[in-house]
Amino acid sequence: MTVSSDRLLVRDLAQVASPAGREAPLRGSALRDVEMVEDAYVLCAGGSIEAVGRMRDLPPLDGDVVELDGTGLAAIPGLVDCHTHLCFAGDRVGEFALRAGGATYEELHAAGGGILSTVRATRAAGGEGLRRAVERHRGWMRRFGTTTFEGKSGYGLDRDTELAQLEAVKAAGGIPTWLGAHALPPEFDDRDAYIDFLLADVLPAAARIAEAADVFLERGAFDAGQSRRYLEACARAGLALRLHGDQFTESGAIPLAVELGARSVDHLEATGPEGARALAASDVTGVLLPASALFLGRPMPPARELVDAGAAVALATDFNPGSAFCESLPLVCSLACTQLRLAPEEALAACTVNAAHVLVRADRMGRIAPGYQADLVLLDAADWRHLAYHLGGDLVHTVVERGATVWSRGRA
Ligand code: NIG
Ligand code: FE
Repeated sequence: MTVSSDRLLVRDLAQVASPAGREAPLRGSALRDVEMVEDAYVLCAGGSIEAVGRMRDLPPLDGDVVELDGTGLAAIPGLVDCHTHLCFAGDRVGEFALRAGGATYEELHAAGGGILSTVRATRAAGGEGLRRAVERHRGWMRRFGTTTFEGKSGYGLDRDTELAQLEAVKAAGGIPTWLGAHALPPEFDDRDAYIDFLLADVLPAAARIAEAADVFLERGAFDAGQSRRYLEACARAGLALRLHGDQFTESGAIPLAVELGARSVDHLEATGPEGARALAASDVTGVLLPASALFLGRPMPPARELVDAGAAVALATDFNPGSAFCESLPLVCSLACTQLRLAPEEALAACTVNAAHVLVRADRMGRIAPGYQADLVLLDAADWRHLAYHLGGDLVHTVVERGATVWSRGRA
């Protein structure tokens, strides 16, 4: 458990870089607007940011203050991973090897592997096993600078395991999303009957733990009509709505997300120009998951087109054992700049303030500015753009959550 230190002064930083302004989500040219202070300090108090400024303007501080030396480091906001499946047991390294030999993700899924093989392991893990798995994965993410994370269920597909997954995410300080409609479990042979079960038997309890509901709208998963019925019931139960959409095929996820006022539609690797225009004209955030496209050897989502058309976009890892065994948002930022043709500034906004917007927390997370939660990542580089530039690099030096250092690799 992390305890907020009362006051923390991070001093002598080479740079502090933060998405500018107070608005969310950022779109268009505002996505590139990064506020920079050089030779800087950040003062945190009671878990929040009290002040940011130039060292030469640092006033004398009375009383106890813990100091952190930021010489040669750049500070960015704590990273926000708004799309993960970190609550899983087992792994799929065997399938990974089969895919390397030419099998496709959809073929493995259709043959009863894929998501369903993780369902078998997750059901067998028990509540305590799932809590341990989330803690372990959460630790991996933290070392790459993630200070806030969302975690989905969807590997239980029965009442008890779905609820245990949501509880495990919440117990680790994550933001739980109920992904009951992820795949058809082996006990059911009819998707509509499975959705009937989810809504009658799981939704009432899931809605007390989760903040949002999610559905896998895709060929071989759930169609638009089934997704609509599930999401509408979840909205009536007070949950925000998210969709896995346009991962392999355009099957109606964007129109449905726009019509239902969803918080986000995620993946978008198969989105065409018309879908991109519809998303850009809406309040739905497009969550881009380039690590998943890379891991599966799929086309990248049309990120540049979306941003240029004015869409609100966020970036996330999609961390899961099948389609994206990757917990690193800095790597995702590198992919954003090299594969999605986003600028480093756009990548930064997409995994801080815009990701916080997807999680309904942009009023207090995703920026380094007075009043925001004191979540910081200190990069071992004097220029914050190393976040995206250092491909797969070991560049996270220190992670601060709510004004307390939660991870540091120490100074040489
Ligand atoms: O976002 N596509 C659906 N769900 C996950 C993958 C889950 C898995 O393969 O275990 C995704 O890619
Ligand atoms: Fe996902």
